[in-house]
Amino acid sequence: MSAQLTMSLAPHILQFQTSLLNRVTASTPLLTRIAQYYILQPSKRIRPCLIFLIAQATNGLGAEWPAKLQASGTQCPHETVLPSQVSLAEVIEMIHVASLLHDDVLDDAPLRRGAPSAPAAFGNKRAILGGDFLLGRAMALCASLGTPAVMSVVADALCALVDGELIQAEAEEPARGAPPADGGAGSEARPAYLNGGDQSKEVVGLWEDYLKKTYMKTASLFSQALQAAVMLGGAASADPWREVAATYGSELGMAFQIIDDLLDFKGDQKELGKAANAADLKLGLVTAPAFFALEEDERMLPLILRRFEGPGDVEKALEIVLSTQALERTRELAQAYATRAYECLEPLPPSPAKVALQTMTEVVMARQR
Ligand code: FPP
Ligand code: MG
Ligand code: MG
Repeated sequence: MSAQLTMSLAPHILQFQTSLLNRVTASTPLLTRIAQYYILQPSKRIRPCLIFLIAQATNGLGAEWPAKLQASGTQCPHETVLPSQVSLAEVIEMIHVASLLHDDVLDDAPLRRGAPSAPAAFGNKRAILGGDFLLGRAMALCASLGTPAVMSVVADALCALVDGELIQAEAEEPARGAPPADGGAGSEARPAYLNGGDQSKEVVGLWEDYLKKTYMKTASLFSQALQAAVMLGGAASADPWREVAATYGSELGMAFQIIDDLLDFKGDQKELGKAANAADLKLGLVTAPAFFALEEDERMLPLILRRFEGPGDVEKALEIVLSTQALERTRELAQAYATRAYECLEPLPPSPAKVALQTMTEVVMARQR
């Protein structure tokens, strides 16, 4: 993120961070430690930053703003962030961190944010309970905002996270009849993905599931969070700003996750702060780079169909990905989403926050961690 952008958001981030740490204290010191564990580690804080920027870019524009203005005692809507919008950022971060606590159990992840993961540090049971506790605190804070429509949008985002994770978990399992680890009789002579056979259908289905789960597990939370922020800022359902926020969040979230999938292949583990080196392949996950590699090299097909479970499959798949244009094409796919995110901001009136939101599309594309 640019220094200027960081400076302009610093007071809000500081307020957010202090309040968040206080909010997740529990009656037992152990639960407090687990709940605060990821929050205390360095993070991009991308969701809170986006919430503050969309708030600054849209507060004062919506039909219901005058009522909000009176309620919050805010004199100048331009470039403000309401207290309720800071609370929303806390709600969304608690949900995000809860999902990471659960995710690291599901993925058996050794590292997160440059340190041992919560399950590695505390054990699986405690990590799961820490996530549950954060969800409880998030719901209480969200309810305190007194806006059922916002509560509903946030709850939808939570359901989408779980839905996306389940789609992914199902896709990790090879379908019955997938080629065995030795390649299977005649499997090399059968470029089924080109001829619409069952295997071709399976790959097409996997690609559709990939895009759907990418939306569900990442883009949806961006989209709903930004939509909730403009709702708290007084945007009525007839105002265009809700749609702008939802579309921007969704497109940027897709770009963010696709870059994450790319970094899994070429990111530096130290910089990422989590396991890289094709960790997704090791989990049996087929992501954009593997699909694009298949378009250039059909040796990828049996590996995908058996989810890289055969001996040497992960190494072979990695080699194929790196020897094709797969990573470049993955970046182009992410760029297409980032460009749409940039373009959908067009109706917003000019402001420094609008420029910062535009810049965030470049930040997401340039990220190395
Ligand atoms: C990280 O993905 C994980 C997510 C974006 C969502 C995980 C969602 C759940 C576990 C469902 C339960 C949700 C809640 C709120 C309790 P990743 O594993 O691809 O990325 P990583 O490399 O950062 O681990
Ligand atoms: Mg995961
Ligand atoms: Mg994970």
